Formats: sequence, C-alpha cells, structure tokens
Amino acid sequence: MTAFDLNTAQTELQGKNPRTILKAALANFDNIAISFSGAEDVVLIDMAINIRKDIQVFSLDTGRLHPETYRFIEKVRKHYGIAIDILSPDREQLDAFVKEKGLFSFYEDGHQQCCAIRKVEPLRRKLAGLDAWITGQRKDQSLDTRGDIPEVQLDAGFSGPGKQLVKFNPLLNWSSAQVWDYIEAYRVPYNDLHQHGYISIGCEPCTRPVLPNQHERAGRWWWEDSAKKECGLHGGNIDK
Ligand code: ADX
Ligand code: SF4
Repeated sequence: MTAFDLNTAQTELQGKNPRTILKAALANFDNIAISFSGAEDVVLIDMAINIRKDIQVFSLDTGRLHPETYRFIEKVRKHYGIAIDILSPDREQLDAFVKEKGLFSFYEDGHQQCCAIRKVEPLRRKLAGLDAWITGQRKDQSLDTRGDIPEVQLDAGFSGPGKQLVKFNPLLNWSSAQVWDYIEAYRVPYNDLHQHGYISIGCEPCTRPVLPNQHERAGRWWWEDSAKKECGLHGGNIDK
C-alpha cells in the first residue's frame, strides 16, 4: 500500500460514483472491511466482490435483530459465498446492563447506553484491527446528521494515538431509489422486512414500518429527536 493522503483522496473522489470510490478504497487498503446490516451494504458487497473476491465483511449482532434479519445475513453469506464476521457484545458488560436496567430501558432513558454496549463496543473492537472501513451511509437518510458526510474521511471517533482509521461512504450521493434500482437490476438479496413496510432497519424493538411518504428514518427510534438519531457507529456525524 502506498502512503494514503486523505485530502488528496477526498478531492479526487468528490462527486464520483460508488464503484469508483470503492475501487479507490480497495486499491489503497488491503486491511479494509464492509460494515453490513442493510440493503445499501449488500449493494456495496455486490460491487466489491467483482473487484476483490475475498472482501472482508462484518456485521454487528446486537442480539436484538429481527428473525428476518438473521435470515437475510445468512442469505447474503450463501449468495456471495463469503465469510461474514458476526460480532457479539461483550458478555460481562451486557449481563450487568440488562440486570440493572432490563431489556427495554431505551424507551425510558434513550438508546445511547444500549447501543454503546450492543453496537459501539463490538465495532470498536473490530475497527481496532482494521486500517479502513466502508459503510452504506447516504446523505438523504438524514439531512440532520448525514447531510455533510464526505466520500472519504478520517474516522476521528475510532482513530487513536498512532492509529489513523479511514472511513469510506461510497453511496453517499445515492438516493434510496437508486439503491433499489440496483437491487432489482442485479438481483441483489434483500431483507424480507422490506416487503412489509420497513425501509431503514435496525434492532427489532427500535424499528417500525413507515407509512407512505414518511421519511425512512421515521421508523427508527421514533420516540427520539431526529437530530440525535445516531447510535455511535457514526457518532462523528453529530459530534460537530
Ligand atoms: S444506524 O447507525 O442508524 O444503525 P444505519 O442503519 O442507517 O445505521 O446504517 C448505516 C450504515 O451503518 C450501514 O450501511 C452499515 O454500513 C452500518 N451499520 C449499521 N448497523 C450495522 C450493524 N448492525 N452491523 C454492521 N454495520 C452496521
Ligand atoms: Fe439497543 Fe435499540 Fe440500540 Fe439495538 S438499536 S442496540 S436494541 S437501543
């Protein structure tokens, strides 16, 4: 790998299409992985697999996903013949948290603590062993928190002394319609919940279907303010 200059890369990749951004990500980093949970991420896997057959993919198993989501993860694993690193929360932290606050504390005091244990800590553990990661974030998922994301960025939240972690967002400029056009055209596997009114899908207790013309993230943490709807995976989006 040649030395990677973030500013030059961002200037070169600005406004480029997802495949070009992905190609640059994989050309610059060997130790890079796709973070997979939703429809967008399978589009990225579908594109990436044609560039690198053994692309690393991981998924955060919070323990609270819908049964359909577990089946979807398995469908993707088989469809592409890839190994998916499925990460679980730290048992001691989770046991203590659930013992103290029960299984639904997020409805009372917000989702941050539960997400910190079930998603962010396992993600931090995974990212510690990577040089770069690729996400399926899109700007129009949330103009409040994602409207300014760049093609490539330093992930300040997960970088540390002596470690620079780079984050790529190849689909940032795509709309949901473009993602679904791709899924249909290339017969990409998707979560069956999309056939039941779900658009953006997270954990079962924190996700619900949306009505026609409601915004896709209206079904996520619906009891909370939209400007705070980030769980810490993309915490940099609201730490400004
Ligand atoms: S979230 O932070 O609100 O849950 P969202 O569902 O919009 O995120 O997904 C945005 C991107 O974050 C996905 O495209 C994926 O790259 C990553 N991501 C979200 N949830 C997970 C998960 N459970 N496992 C792995 N990656 C995830
Ligand atoms: Fe917990 Fe809900 Fe966050 Fe899942 S989305 S980790 S259940 S608060």
